[in-house]
Amino acid sequence: MKFFIDSANTDEIRQAQELGILAGVTTNPSLVAKEGADFHERLREITSFVEESVSAEVIATDADGMIREGKELAEIAPNITVKVPMTLEGLKAVRTFSSLGIKTNVTLVFSANQALLAARAGASYVSPFLGRLDDIGHDGLELIGTISDMFDLHGIETEIIAASIRHPQHVTESALRGAHIATLPWKVVEQLTKHPLTDIGIEKFLSDWQKSQNA
Ligand code: E4P
Repeated sequence: MKFFIDSANTDEIRQAQELGILAGVTTNPSLVAKEGADFHERLREITSFVEESVSAEVIATDADGMIREGKELAEIAPNITVKVPMTLEGLKAVRTFSSLGIKTNVTLVFSANQALLAARAGASYVSPFLGRLDDIGHDGLELIGTISDMFDLHGIETEIIAASIRHPQHVTESALRGAHIATLPWKVVEQLTKHPLTDIGIEKFLSDWQKSQNA
């Protein structure tokens, strides 16, 4: 499983890149709004230093509007992936983008059937939202396993992005259940690096070293 960062914050994206783990970036309208930046300007900035897939979401709700917006987004950089919501209109737009060779990420996926439809319409990626399913008492991780089994069974090459990740256990379990990618908020990237025994171990090594130097 590869890692994307789920952020429109360039400092966070650069930090993930410095770790050598960055295989792509996902953004959404809420993340961009939080930054208070101009959407296209921020995408130009991100794609100036990220060569891998950068997902940028359309705001229109009708297929023609999505196609118009998506084409504009795709012109910003060749690595822009157009993020499209999982609706009937979204599927029509995905089909058009697919025929134009523009990569798509179908977002707000909450069921295996939605993922299958998106894949058949030509989506490059599908994004099941784990955390938001957990929030309403459903099992987000189970959905990842079901989509993965279904895609394997039918030889579907659309990649599964585990999205709406809230904690490290989501990451481990998504990897085990067959997600190709997990898109992580920076906070979760930091959490993944930590273990109390690592901190205790470093402290012990350093204090033993100091003692030997003072002996
Ligand atoms: C990623 O593509 C999604 O937009 C994101 O993971 C949603 O996460 P949230 O449910 O924490 O807002």
